[in-house]
Amino acid sequence: MQPDRLLITGGAGFIGSNFVNYWIARHPGHRVVVLDALPYAGNPANLHAVRDLPQFRFVHGEIQNEALVEKLLREESINCIVHFAAESHVDRSILAPDLFLATNVMGTHSLLKVARKVWLDSGSGTPHRFHHVSTDEVYGSLDLTAPAFIESSPYQPSSPYAASKAASDHLVRAYGHTYGLDVTISNCSNNYGPFHYPEKLIPLMIVNILQGLPLPVYGAGGNVRDWLYVEDHCRGIELALQRGRSGETYNLGGNSERANLDLVRTLCREVDALLDADAGLGSRFPDAPVHHDGSAESLIQFVADRPGHDLRYAIDASKAAAELGFVPRHNLESGLRNTVAWYLENESWWRDLMGRNYQDWMHAQYAGRSPARNGG
Ligand code: NAD
Ligand code: TYD
Repeated sequence: MQPDRLLITGGAGFIGSNFVNYWIARHPGHRVVVLDALPYAGNPANLHAVRDLPQFRFVHGEIQNEALVEKLLREESINCIVHFAAESHVDRSILAPDLFLATNVMGTHSLLKVARKVWLDSGSGTPHRFHHVSTDEVYGSLDLTAPAFIESSPYQPSSPYAASKAASDHLVRAYGHTYGLDVTISNCSNNYGPFHYPEKLIPLMIVNILQGLPLPVYGAGGNVRDWLYVEDHCRGIELALQRGRSGETYNLGGNSERANLDLVRTLCREVDALLDADAGLGSRFPDAPVHHDGSAESLIQFVADRPGHDLRYAIDASKAAAELGFVPRHNLESGLRNTVAWYLENESWWRDLMGRNYQDWMHAQYAGRSPARNGG
């Protein structure tokens, strides 16, 4: 089955919008319908390049709204759901877990129920695919020398976010196994790139450097993440849709592990160098330390650690490489360069987000996280 009428849930969020833009550029004849509730991270501006195209439709609504989802599947003759919609930030899940269960677990179950009803019960086995976008965090934490996660690694989620994603993965597999729904799952490592909401590590550090604000590094900054440029994730999902076998799970990763502090220092050097080389940027970002004979690294503040902070994630993507032909095209250096350039070119995008809700959240997140020590 080659999907050509797609429902993209969470398509106004970071990865979802990158995927919509990617898919429409590569498959201009396909129908693409986005369903997004826009609670905060989803942003219609992420879809400005496609919003007026005839093959594109945006629907404002929740994945839990089963009547709405059923109506969309039927009236748009959808044959593929790519499910991105989620509450996605670990720190928010620690402060307020309920919403993560409502959206990530119950919301995914609502989609599965409706997909089963439309594609199997009343659709007499219409060819279809339900692709669930998940995370490496379901596997829990690795010590620094352990082998990377493979698809059969045990599920050991640590945070409420990871637990909710783990539950949703199990439900997707159960619907494949029990009812014969055509499902695939991808578990991906940390993404970065354009349209990334600046509460996550990489975009937060970039916009804070540009504004001369503190760079909060949790604990000693020794936690390790594997980073994948978002366009490579989109390509991996495309390959899973085109070549993935029903019922299978594919790990996607960038083979780019970095300790947080190393990554933040790299970003500091990257932004300093760009600002230093372009006098015009000075007037736009007068508070960046490089304009005061300093370096962005002086902004690093070590703050109290995230409770239950997973030490390390690492992905072994050899199954996706062998079965799907998945190979990331960006390394961390080229991906970070593109990302920093994007945030410099799209200042109004991130400034527009920094209204009251954003300030309230950042205040809540860092309340009580007084600096542990400064300057590394
Ligand atoms: P995001 O928070 O930027 O996007 C999530 C989107 O879902 C937003 O547009 C939001 O408005 C929408 N949404 C939230 N609740 C909804 C609801 N009830 N109904 C409809 N829409 C709703 O997150 P992201 O980083 O783009 O992540 C997308 C998916 O990829 C998530 O499922 C996440 O678990 C997964 N993932 C993310 C990463 C990463 O590094 N960011 C890595 C692996 C997997
Ligand atoms: P994050 O971007 O929240 O992704 P995840 O928790 O899903 O991996 O965080 C990436 C890493 O960066 C994680 O180890 C926590 C750390 N971190 C900080 O040190 N400071 C910050 O301000 C944030 C948001 C994250």
